[in-house]
Amino acid sequence: MNYTQIMAYVKDLAHQAGRIMLAAHDEAEKTAKTKSGSANFVTAYDIAVQEHLIKRLRERFPEAVFIAEEKDNDPSLLEREFCFVIDPIDGTTNFMHNYKCSAISIAMVSHGETVIGVVYDPYRGELYHAEKGKGAFLNDKPIHVSERCSEQAVVALGTSPYYKDTLAEKTFSLARDVYCRVGDLRRTGTAALDLAYVAVGRTEGFFEWILSPWDHAAGVLLVTEAGGIVTQADGSPTVLSAPCSVWAGNRMVHAVLIDAAKRYC
Ligand code: IPD
Ligand code: CA
Repeated sequence: MNYTQIMAYVKDLAHQAGRIMLAAHDEAEKTAKTKSGSANFVTAYDIAVQEHLIKRLRERFPEAVFIAEEKDNDPSLLEREFCFVIDPIDGTTNFMHNYKCSAISIAMVSHGETVIGVVYDPYRGELYHAEKGKGAFLNDKPIHVSERCSEQAVVALGTSPYYKDTLAEKTFSLARDVYCRVGDLRRTGTAALDLAYVAVGRTEGFFEWILSPWDHAAGVLLVTEAGGIVTQADGSPTVLSAPCSVWAGNRMVHAVLIDAAKRYC
C-alpha cells in the first residue's frame, strides 16, 4: 500500500473523529478529569476519539503502532514502519469551553521520519494534509507559507500551560521581545492549528517552549511541505522522541524568532 492510499484512509478517519467532537456540543466539560501538570484536562471525547482512531487504524493496518496523548508511550516505536502519532483533540481546554477552536492531529512516522500529516478542524470544516515531498494542502488545494516580512507578520505563541511554574517568565518575556519586532501576536490554544495556519499563510510564525510529539508531528510536516521552516528554539531539528521547543515560520520570520530566542537558550 502506498502513502497516498494511507492518506485517503487517514483523512476519512479525521472526518469521523470530527463528528465525535461535534457531538459534544457544550457538554464536554462535564466529562473532564484532571491530568498531571497545571490546568491539564482530558475529556471523555478525547478518549473516545483516540479509541476510535486506534481501533480503525489497527483494523486497516494490523502492523501499526501508536504514540498518542491519552496513553502511555514508548518512543522506540517511532523507528517502526507504521507509527501513528495522534493527538485526538488538540486544544482540549478550548474544547471544554466550547470555544470552537480545536483539531484532530494524526501523523504517520516511518523509520523515524514523518511521512504523512493530517490536521482537521471540524468547526471550520478545514482539513490540512501533507505527504513528504508532495506539498501541503487545505481541503485538497495546495497551500504555501506567506511572504509577509516581520513588520507585517502575525505570530502565534503557545504558552506551555502545563509548565507554568518553570516557563511563564521565559514565555512572556520572549513574547514581549517578539511583539516589538513583528506586527502582532496571537494565542489560539491549539498548536496543531497554529502550525497549520503558518502553512496556509494566515500567520507568519509560531513558537512554544515545550510541546509533546502529538502536538506538532503533523503540523511540522504541513509547514515544511508548505515551504516554511521549523526547528527548535536553538535552531536544531525538532524531535518526536521527547518534548521539545517548536519554532516555525516563513523564512524571514523564522530567522527573527530564532534571533529573539538567543537570549533565552
Ligand atoms: C495543548 C495545545 C496548546 C499548547 C499546549 C498543548 P492539548 O494541547 O496545543 O495550544 O499551548 O502546549 O499541550 O493539551 O490541548 O492537546
Ligand atoms: Ca495537544
